[in-house]
Amino acid sequence: MSTDRVSVHGGWASRWVFILAATGSAVGLGSIWKFPYMVGVYGGGAFVLVFLACIALIGLPVMLAETLIGRRARQSPANALKVLALEAGHSARWSWGAFAGMITALLILSFYSVVGGWSLDYIIDMGRGDFQGVTADQVGAYFSAVTADPWRLTLWHTLFMLLSALVIAKGVVAGLERSLRVMMPLLFVMLLVLLGYSMTTGHFMQGLHFMFDFSLERLLDGLLPAMGHAFFSLSVGVGSIMIYGAYMPKHSSLAGTVVGVALLDTFVSLVAGMALFPIVFAAGLNPSEGPGLMFISLPFAFGNVAFGQLMGVVFFILVAIAAWSSAISLLEPMVAYLVERTKIRRGWVTFWLAFSCWFVGLGTVFSFNIWQQAKFFVNEGGVFHLYQWGAAGGLDFFGVIDFFTSRIMLPLGGLCFVVFAGWVMGREAVRDELSLRSPLLFALALFLMRYVAPVGILVVFAAQLWK
Ligand code: TRP
Repeated sequence: MSTDRVSVHGGWASRWVFILAATGSAVGLGSIWKFPYMVGVYGGGAFVLVFLACIALIGLPVMLAETLIGRRARQSPANALKVLALEAGHSARWSWGAFAGMITALLILSFYSVVGGWSLDYIIDMGRGDFQGVTADQVGAYFSAVTADPWRLTLWHTLFMLLSALVIAKGVVAGLERSLRVMMPLLFVMLLVLLGYSMTTGHFMQGLHFMFDFSLERLLDGLLPAMGHAFFSLSVGVGSIMIYGAYMPKHSSLAGTVVGVALLDTFVSLVAGMALFPIVFAAGLNPSEGPGLMFISLPFAFGNVAFGQLMGVVFFILVAIAAWSSAISLLEPMVAYLVERTKIRRGWVTFWLAFSCWFVGLGTVFSFNIWQQAKFFVNEGGVFHLYQWGAAGGLDFFGVIDFFTSRIMLPLGGLCFVVFAGWVMGREAVRDELSLRSPLLFALALFLMRYVAPVGILVVFAAQLWK
Protein backbone atom coordinates (compact mmCIF):
# COMPACT_ATOMS: atom_id res chain seq x y z
CA MET A 1 0.00 0.00 0.00
CA SER A 2 1.42 3.30 -1.04
CA THR A 3 0.01 6.70 -0.17
CA ASP A 4 -0.77 9.55 -2.50
CA ARG A 5 -0.57 12.39 -0.05
CA VAL A 6 0.97 15.64 -1.22
CA SER A 7 2.35 18.40 0.97
CA VAL A 8 0.53 21.71 0.93
CA HIS A 9 3.85 23.50 1.35
CA GLY A 10 5.36 22.33 -1.95
CA GLY A 11 8.04 19.73 -2.62
CA TRP A 12 11.71 19.45 -3.58
CA ALA A 13 12.33 19.18 -7.30
CA SER A 14 14.41 16.06 -6.86
CA ARG A 15 16.22 13.86 -4.40
CA TRP A 16 19.29 16.01 -4.90
CA VAL A 17 17.55 19.08 -3.64
CA PHE A 18 16.53 17.14 -0.55
CA ILE A 19 20.15 16.15 0.00
CA LEU A 20 21.16 19.77 -0.40
CA ALA A 21 18.51 20.99 2.01
CA ALA A 22 19.12 18.27 4.58
CA THR A 23 22.86 18.80 4.43
CA GLY A 24 22.24 22.51 4.68
CA SER A 25 20.25 21.84 7.81
CA ALA A 26 22.73 19.44 9.36
CA VAL A 27 25.94 21.29 8.52
CA GLY A 28 26.04 24.52 10.45
CA LEU A 29 27.29 26.03 13.66
CA GLY A 30 26.93 22.59 15.24
CA SER A 31 29.80 21.24 13.18
CA ILE A 32 31.99 24.30 12.89
CA TRP A 33 31.46 26.15 16.17
CA LYS A 34 29.97 23.77 18.72
CA PHE A 35 31.68 20.48 17.94
CA PRO A 36 35.25 21.78 18.34
CA TYR A 37 34.54 23.63 21.56
CA MET A 38 32.79 20.61 23.06
CA VAL A 39 35.71 18.38 22.07
CA GLY A 40 37.90 20.88 23.92
CA VAL A 41 35.74 21.02 27.02
CA TYR A 42 35.11 17.27 27.27
CA GLY A 43 38.67 16.22 26.78
CA GLY A 44 39.36 15.38 23.15
CA GLY A 45 39.46 11.83 21.84
CA ALA A 46 37.04 10.25 24.32
CA PHE A 47 34.35 12.72 23.32
CA VAL A 48 35.00 12.25 19.59
CA LEU A 49 34.76 8.48 19.89
CA VAL A 50 31.46 8.52 21.77
CA PHE A 51 30.13 11.15 19.37
CA LEU A 52 30.91 8.98 16.34
CA ALA A 53 29.35 5.93 17.97
CA CYS A 54 26.22 7.93 18.79
CA ILE A 55 25.96 9.20 15.23
CA ALA A 56 26.11 5.70 13.79
CA LEU A 57 24.01 3.79 16.30
CA ILE A 58 21.51 6.39 17.45
CA GLY A 59 21.52 9.48 15.24
CA LEU A 60 21.32 7.61 11.96
CA PRO A 61 18.34 5.41 12.90
CA VAL A 62 16.53 8.48 14.26
CA MET A 63 17.23 10.33 11.04
CA LEU A 64 15.86 7.44 9.01
CA ALA A 65 12.79 7.29 11.24
CA GLU A 66 12.17 11.02 10.87
CA THR A 67 12.45 11.08 7.08
CA LEU A 68 10.26 8.08 6.62
CA ILE A 69 7.57 9.42 8.93
CA GLY A 70 7.73 12.78 7.18
CA ARG A 71 7.57 11.43 3.69
CA ARG A 72 4.72 9.09 4.45
CA ALA A 73 2.57 11.74 6.08
CA ARG A 74 3.67 14.80 4.07
CA GLN A 75 2.71 17.17 6.88
CA SER A 76 4.24 19.03 9.78
CA PRO A 77 5.66 16.78 12.53
CA ALA A 78 2.75 17.00 14.98
CA ASN A 79 0.17 16.32 12.29
CA ALA A 80 2.33 13.60 10.77
CA LEU A 81 2.46 11.58 13.96
CA LYS A 82 -1.24 12.10 14.53
CA VAL A 83 -2.30 10.93 11.09
CA LEU A 84 0.02 7.93 11.01
CA ALA A 85 -0.85 6.88 14.55
CA LEU A 86 -4.57 6.94 13.81
CA GLU A 87 -3.97 5.08 10.57
CA ALA A 88 -2.19 2.33 12.47
CA GLY A 89 -4.88 2.20 15.15
CA HIS A 90 -2.93 3.96 17.88
CA SER A 91 -3.52 7.03 20.00
CA ALA A 92 -3.37 10.48 18.42
CA ARG A 93 -1.44 11.58 21.51
CA TRP A 94 1.77 10.51 19.83
CA SER A 95 1.64 13.92 18.22
CA TRP A 96 2.48 15.49 21.60
CA GLY A 97 6.02 14.16 21.28
CA ALA A 98 6.39 15.92 17.96
CA PHE A 99 4.82 19.05 19.39
CA ALA A 100 7.42 19.13 22.16
CA GLY A 101 10.05 18.72 19.45
CA MET A 102 8.78 21.71 17.49
CA ILE A 103 8.97 23.85 20.65
CA THR A 104 12.49 22.57 21.30
CA ALA A 105 13.46 23.65 17.79
CA LEU A 106 12.32 27.18 18.54
CA LEU A 107 14.32 27.24 21.78
CA ILE A 108 17.42 26.10 19.90
CA LEU A 109 16.85 28.78 17.29
CA SER A 110 16.81 31.42 20.03
CA PHE A 111 20.51 30.95 20.82
CA TYR A 112 21.47 29.72 17.36
CA SER A 113 20.54 33.10 15.97
CA VAL A 114 22.74 34.89 18.49
CA VAL A 115 25.80 32.87 17.47
CA GLY A 116 24.85 33.17 13.81
CA GLY A 117 24.93 36.89 14.51
CA TRP A 118 28.50 36.63 15.75
CA SER A 119 29.55 35.22 12.40
CA LEU A 120 27.82 38.10 10.60
CA ASP A 121 29.66 40.54 12.87
CA TYR A 122 32.98 38.82 12.15
CA ILE A 123 32.49 39.17 8.37
CA ILE A 124 32.64 42.93 8.80
CA ASP A 125 35.46 42.85 11.37
CA MET A 126 37.54 40.62 9.12
CA GLY A 127 36.90 42.82 6.11
CA ARG A 128 37.92 45.92 8.05
CA GLY A 129 41.24 44.28 8.80
CA ASP A 130 40.73 44.24 12.57
CA PHE A 131 42.72 41.05 12.88
CA GLN A 132 45.74 41.89 10.75
CA GLY A 133 48.86 40.80 12.62
CA VAL A 134 47.09 40.34 15.97
CA THR A 135 48.40 38.25 18.84
CA ALA A 136 46.37 35.46 20.41
CA ASP A 137 45.71 37.61 23.47
CA GLN A 138 44.38 40.43 21.36
CA VAL A 139 41.90 38.16 19.55
CA GLY A 140 40.73 36.86 22.91
CA ALA A 141 40.22 40.39 24.16
CA TYR A 142 38.43 41.25 20.92
CA PHE A 143 35.94 38.42 21.39
CA SER A 144 35.35 39.46 24.99
CA ALA A 145 34.73 43.03 23.89
CA VAL A 146 32.24 41.94 21.22
CA THR A 147 30.27 39.73 23.58
CA ALA A 148 30.38 42.31 26.38
CA ASP A 149 28.29 44.69 24.29
CA PRO A 150 24.58 43.75 24.46
CA TRP A 151 23.59 46.29 21.81
CA ARG A 152 26.06 44.95 19.32
CA LEU A 153 24.99 41.35 19.88
CA THR A 154 21.32 42.31 19.68
CA LEU A 155 21.85 44.09 16.39
CA TRP A 156 23.41 41.07 14.69
CA HIS A 157 21.01 38.65 16.36
CA THR A 158 18.13 40.70 14.93
CA LEU A 159 19.65 40.73 11.47
CA PHE A 160 20.30 37.00 11.49
CA MET A 161 16.74 36.25 12.59
CA LEU A 162 15.35 38.51 9.88
CA LEU A 163 17.41 36.79 7.19
CA SER A 164 16.14 33.39 8.31
CA ALA A 165 12.53 34.52 8.54
CA LEU A 166 12.69 35.98 5.05
CA VAL A 167 13.25 32.63 3.38
CA ILE A 168 10.70 30.86 5.55
CA ALA A 169 8.06 33.45 4.81
CA LYS A 170 8.47 32.79 1.09
CA GLY A 171 8.42 29.03 1.54
CA VAL A 172 11.45 26.86 2.02
CA VAL A 173 11.17 25.00 -1.19
CA ALA A 174 11.43 28.10 -3.31
CA GLY A 175 14.12 29.90 -1.39
CA LEU A 176 16.67 27.34 -0.45
CA GLU A 177 17.90 25.55 -3.51
CA ARG A 178 19.42 28.42 -5.39
CA SER A 179 21.42 29.69 -2.46
CA LEU A 180 22.77 26.35 -1.34
CA ARG A 181 23.84 24.82 -4.62
CA VAL A 182 26.96 26.94 -4.79
CA MET A 183 27.58 27.76 -1.17
CA MET A 184 27.69 24.31 0.37
CA PRO A 185 30.46 23.01 -1.91
CA LEU A 186 32.34 26.25 -1.36
CA LEU A 187 32.20 25.76 2.39
CA PHE A 188 33.74 22.31 2.00
CA VAL A 189 36.53 23.74 -0.13
CA MET A 190 37.19 26.51 2.35
CA LEU A 191 37.42 24.06 5.24
CA LEU A 192 39.90 21.97 3.29
CA VAL A 193 41.99 25.07 2.61
CA LEU A 194 41.94 25.79 6.32
CA LEU A 195 42.96 22.21 7.00
CA GLY A 196 45.86 22.66 4.60
CA TYR A 197 46.92 25.74 6.51
CA SER A 198 46.75 23.86 9.81
CA MET A 199 49.20 21.32 8.45
CA THR A 200 51.76 24.09 8.12
CA THR A 201 51.45 25.34 11.70
CA GLY A 202 53.80 22.72 13.08
CA HIS A 203 51.15 21.61 15.57
CA PHE A 204 49.12 19.41 13.26
CA MET A 205 50.08 16.16 14.95
CA GLN A 206 49.37 17.62 18.37
CA GLY A 207 45.91 18.53 17.12
CA LEU A 208 45.33 15.01 15.80
CA HIS A 209 46.47 13.43 19.04
CA PHE A 210 44.16 15.68 20.98
CA MET A 211 41.21 14.73 18.81
CA PHE A 212 41.79 11.02 18.47
CA ASP A 213 43.72 9.76 21.52
CA PHE A 214 41.55 8.78 24.42
CA SER A 215 41.76 7.18 27.80
CA LEU A 216 39.06 4.78 28.85
CA GLU A 217 38.38 6.56 32.14
CA ARG A 218 37.25 9.68 30.35
CA LEU A 219 34.76 7.86 28.15
CA LEU A 220 31.92 8.29 30.63
CA ASP A 221 32.43 12.02 31.25
CA GLY A 222 31.24 13.16 27.90
CA LEU A 223 28.63 10.49 27.27
CA LEU A 224 25.43 12.52 27.51
CA PRO A 225 26.95 15.67 25.99
CA ALA A 226 28.26 13.61 23.06
CA MET A 227 24.93 11.94 22.47
CA GLY A 228 23.11 15.25 22.72
CA HIS A 229 25.50 16.74 20.25
CA ALA A 230 25.08 13.85 17.81
CA PHE A 231 21.38 14.77 17.68
CA PHE A 232 22.16 18.46 17.40
CA SER A 233 24.67 17.95 14.63
CA LEU A 234 22.38 15.78 12.50
CA SER A 235 19.39 18.10 13.11
CA VAL A 236 17.35 15.24 14.50
CA GLY A 237 15.01 14.98 17.48
CA VAL A 238 12.75 17.95 16.78
CA GLY A 239 11.24 17.29 13.36
CA SER A 240 13.56 19.42 11.21
CA ILE A 241 14.54 16.51 9.05
CA MET A 242 11.02 15.15 9.24
CA ILE A 243 9.53 18.24 7.63
CA TYR A 244 12.22 18.14 4.94
CA GLY A 245 11.36 14.49 4.40
CA ALA A 246 7.76 15.57 3.90
CA TYR A 247 8.84 17.54 0.84
CA MET A 248 10.81 14.66 -0.64
CA PRO A 249 9.84 13.03 -3.92
CA LYS A 250 8.04 9.75 -3.58
CA HIS A 251 10.28 7.32 -5.33
CA SER A 252 13.75 7.97 -4.09
CA SER A 253 15.85 5.90 -1.81
CA LEU A 254 15.58 7.07 1.75
CA ALA A 255 18.23 5.00 3.44
CA GLY A 256 21.03 5.82 1.02
CA THR A 257 20.19 9.50 1.10
CA VAL A 258 20.12 9.67 4.87
CA VAL A 259 23.44 7.87 5.22
CA GLY A 260 24.96 10.29 2.71
CA VAL A 261 23.78 13.34 4.61
CA ALA A 262 25.02 11.96 7.93
CA LEU A 263 28.42 11.17 6.44
CA LEU A 264 28.80 14.66 4.98
CA ASP A 265 27.86 16.26 8.27
CA THR A 266 30.26 14.11 10.28
CA PHE A 267 33.00 14.74 7.76
CA VAL A 268 32.58 18.50 8.15
CA SER A 269 32.73 18.24 11.95
CA LEU A 270 35.91 16.19 11.88
CA VAL A 271 37.60 18.45 9.33
CA ALA A 272 36.59 21.53 11.33
CA GLY A 273 38.12 20.00 14.45
CA MET A 274 41.29 18.92 12.67
CA ALA A 275 41.68 22.38 11.17
CA LEU A 276 40.99 24.21 14.41
CA PHE A 277 43.02 22.44 17.08
CA PRO A 278 46.45 22.82 15.46
CA ILE A 279 45.75 26.56 15.29
CA VAL A 280 44.63 26.53 18.91
CA PHE A 281 47.87 24.88 19.98
CA ALA A 282 50.06 26.99 17.71
CA ALA A 283 48.54 30.14 19.20
CA GLY A 284 48.95 28.83 22.73
CA LEU A 285 45.20 29.03 23.35
CA ASN A 286 43.33 26.87 25.81
CA PRO A 287 41.35 24.11 24.02
CA SER A 288 38.71 24.23 26.75
CA GLU A 289 38.06 27.89 26.07
CA GLY A 290 34.32 27.26 25.50
CA PRO A 291 31.96 28.97 23.04
CA GLY A 292 34.60 31.50 21.97
CA LEU A 293 37.03 28.86 20.66
CA MET A 294 36.32 29.25 16.96
CA PHE A 295 35.87 33.02 17.15
CA ILE A 296 39.30 33.37 18.73
CA SER A 297 41.44 30.76 17.01
CA LEU A 298 40.35 31.36 13.42
CA PRO A 299 40.71 35.14 13.34
CA PHE A 300 44.14 34.65 14.83
CA ALA A 301 45.07 32.32 11.96
CA PHE A 302 43.54 34.57 9.30
CA GLY A 303 45.23 37.59 10.83
CA ASN A 304 48.64 36.09 10.41
CA VAL A 305 48.79 34.58 6.91
CA ALA A 306 49.04 36.01 3.42
CA PHE A 307 45.57 36.81 1.97
CA GLY A 308 44.16 36.04 5.40
CA GLN A 309 41.91 39.07 5.35
CA LEU A 310 40.16 37.97 2.17
CA MET A 311 40.02 34.32 3.19
CA GLY A 312 38.63 35.31 6.56
CA VAL A 313 35.80 37.29 4.99
CA VAL A 314 34.93 34.41 2.66
CA PHE A 315 35.08 31.93 5.52
CA PHE A 316 32.75 33.83 7.82
CA ILE A 317 30.33 34.45 4.96
CA LEU A 318 30.20 30.70 4.39
CA VAL A 319 29.75 30.01 8.09
CA ALA A 320 26.91 32.51 8.21
CA ILE A 321 25.25 30.84 5.23
CA ALA A 322 25.66 27.40 6.77
CA ALA A 323 24.12 28.73 9.97
CA TRP A 324 21.31 30.39 8.08
CA SER A 325 20.36 27.22 6.20
CA SER A 326 20.24 25.39 9.55
CA ALA A 327 18.21 28.09 11.26
CA ILE A 328 15.59 27.79 8.56
CA SER A 329 15.08 24.13 9.33
CA LEU A 330 14.53 24.99 13.00
CA LEU A 331 11.72 27.38 12.18
CA GLU A 332 10.01 25.41 9.44
CA PRO A 333 8.33 22.61 11.48
CA MET A 334 6.25 24.96 13.65
CA VAL A 335 5.52 27.29 10.75
CA ALA A 336 4.26 24.37 8.67
CA TYR A 337 2.16 23.19 11.61
CA LEU A 338 0.48 26.54 12.15
CA VAL A 339 -0.11 26.99 8.44
CA GLU A 340 -1.87 23.62 8.40
CA ARG A 341 -3.87 24.23 11.55
CA THR A 342 -4.89 27.87 11.29
CA LYS A 343 -6.02 30.26 8.63
CA ILE A 344 -3.19 32.66 9.34
CA ARG A 345 -0.95 33.43 6.38
CA ARG A 346 2.53 31.94 6.21
CA GLY A 347 4.13 35.37 6.37
CA TRP A 348 2.42 36.30 9.64
CA VAL A 349 3.02 32.93 11.24
CA THR A 350 6.70 33.27 10.41
CA PHE A 351 6.87 36.81 11.71
CA TRP A 352 5.36 35.99 15.10
CA LEU A 353 7.37 32.84 15.62
CA ALA A 354 10.62 34.52 14.62
CA PHE A 355 9.79 37.42 16.92
CA SER A 356 9.20 35.05 19.86
CA CYS A 357 12.51 33.25 19.22
CA TRP A 358 14.25 36.58 18.92
CA PHE A 359 12.82 37.66 22.24
CA VAL A 360 13.93 34.51 24.07
CA GLY A 361 17.30 34.90 22.34
CA LEU A 362 17.85 38.15 24.21
CA GLY A 363 18.42 35.95 27.26
CA THR A 364 21.38 34.39 25.48
CA VAL A 365 22.64 37.81 24.41
CA PHE A 366 22.59 38.95 28.04
CA SER A 367 24.24 35.74 29.28
CA PHE A 368 27.49 37.07 27.86
CA ASN A 369 27.25 40.48 29.52
CA ILE A 370 24.68 41.99 31.87
CA TRP A 371 23.34 38.62 33.09
CA GLN A 372 26.71 36.94 33.24
CA GLN A 373 26.35 36.58 37.01
CA ALA A 374 22.83 35.14 36.88
CA LYS A 375 23.34 31.45 37.59
CA PHE A 376 20.81 28.66 37.65
CA PHE A 377 21.05 25.15 39.14
CA VAL A 378 23.94 25.99 41.40
CA ASN A 379 25.43 23.19 43.47
CA GLU A 380 27.35 24.79 46.29
CA GLY A 381 29.15 22.10 48.24
CA GLY A 382 26.13 19.80 48.20
CA VAL A 383 23.58 22.59 48.77
CA PHE A 384 21.41 23.12 45.76
CA HIS A 385 20.16 26.53 44.65
CA LEU A 386 17.75 26.92 41.76
CA TYR A 387 19.03 30.42 41.18
CA GLN A 388 21.81 32.52 42.61
CA TRP A 389 23.34 35.78 41.49
CA GLY A 390 27.12 35.68 41.22
CA ALA A 391 27.64 31.98 42.04
CA ALA A 392 30.87 30.38 40.84
CA GLY A 393 29.26 27.25 39.35
CA GLY A 394 25.89 26.68 37.78
CA LEU A 395 24.60 27.54 34.33
CA ASP A 396 23.84 30.91 32.81
CA PHE A 397 20.67 31.46 30.76
CA PHE A 398 22.33 30.24 27.55
CA GLY A 399 23.70 27.24 29.45
CA VAL A 400 20.23 26.33 30.71
CA ILE A 401 18.63 26.48 27.27
CA ASP A 402 21.51 24.56 25.72
CA PHE A 403 21.42 21.90 28.44
CA PHE A 404 17.67 21.48 28.38
CA THR A 405 17.46 21.24 24.58
CA SER A 406 20.57 19.24 23.65
CA ARG A 407 20.84 16.89 26.58
CA ILE A 408 17.21 16.28 27.45
CA MET A 409 14.76 17.24 24.74
CA LEU A 410 16.68 16.11 21.64
CA PRO A 411 17.29 12.57 22.93
CA LEU A 412 13.68 12.31 24.16
CA GLY A 413 12.38 13.58 20.83
CA GLY A 414 14.59 11.09 19.03
CA LEU A 415 13.33 8.30 21.26
CA CYS A 416 9.74 9.22 20.42
CA PHE A 417 10.43 9.19 16.67
CA VAL A 418 12.36 5.90 16.47
CA VAL A 419 9.88 4.11 18.68
CA PHE A 420 7.09 5.51 16.55
CA ALA A 421 8.68 4.31 13.30
CA GLY A 422 9.83 1.02 14.77
CA TRP A 423 6.80 -0.02 16.79
CA VAL A 424 3.77 2.14 16.06
CA MET A 425 3.63 2.72 12.31
CA GLY A 426 3.54 -0.92 11.47
CA ARG A 427 6.08 -3.04 9.68
CA GLU A 428 4.37 -2.92 6.30
CA ALA A 429 4.13 0.86 6.22
CA VAL A 430 7.82 1.12 7.06
CA ARG A 431 8.75 -1.50 4.48
CA ASP A 432 6.73 0.27 1.82
CA GLU A 433 8.21 3.67 2.60
CA LEU A 434 11.81 2.46 2.76
CA SER A 435 11.40 0.21 -0.28
CA LEU A 436 14.78 -1.37 0.26
CA ARG A 437 15.46 -4.09 -2.25
CA SER A 438 17.42 -6.28 0.10
CA PRO A 439 15.38 -7.93 2.88
CA LEU A 440 18.55 -8.07 4.93
CA LEU A 441 19.00 -4.31 4.82
CA PHE A 442 15.38 -3.82 5.77
CA ALA A 443 15.80 -6.12 8.74
CA LEU A 444 18.89 -4.17 9.76
CA ALA A 445 17.13 -0.80 9.49
CA LEU A 446 14.20 -2.08 11.51
CA PHE A 447 16.50 -3.61 14.11
CA LEU A 448 18.36 -0.30 14.49
CA MET A 449 15.11 1.63 14.93
CA ARG A 450 13.39 -0.90 17.19
CA TYR A 451 16.20 -1.90 19.50
CA VAL A 452 19.62 -0.33 19.04
CA ALA A 453 18.66 3.34 19.08
CA PRO A 454 16.00 3.26 21.84
CA VAL A 455 18.13 1.09 24.11
CA GLY A 456 21.18 3.24 23.35
CA ILE A 457 19.37 6.42 24.35
CA LEU A 458 18.08 4.88 27.58
CA VAL A 459 21.48 3.46 28.46
CA VAL A 460 23.14 6.85 28.06
CA PHE A 461 20.50 8.50 30.25
CA ALA A 462 20.89 5.76 32.85
CA ALA A 463 24.69 5.99 32.79
CA GLN A 464 24.42 9.72 33.36
CA LEU A 465 22.11 9.31 36.35
CA TRP A 466 24.22 6.63 38.04
CA LYS A 467 27.56 8.24 37.37
N1 TRP B 1 22.31 20.72 12.85
C1 TRP B 1 22.45 22.13 12.84
C2 TRP B 1 23.91 22.46 13.13
O1 TRP B 1 24.65 21.55 13.34
C3 TRP B 1 21.51 22.83 13.79
C4 TRP B 1 20.12 22.36 13.65
C5 TRP B 1 19.29 22.55 12.58
C6 TRP B 1 19.44 21.53 14.56
N2 TRP B 1 18.11 21.92 12.78
C7 TRP B 1 18.18 21.28 13.99
C8 TRP B 1 19.78 21.00 15.78
C9 TRP B 1 17.26 20.47 14.66
C10 TRP B 1 18.85 20.19 16.45
C11 TRP B 1 17.62 19.93 15.88
O2 TRP B 1 24.30 23.57 13.16
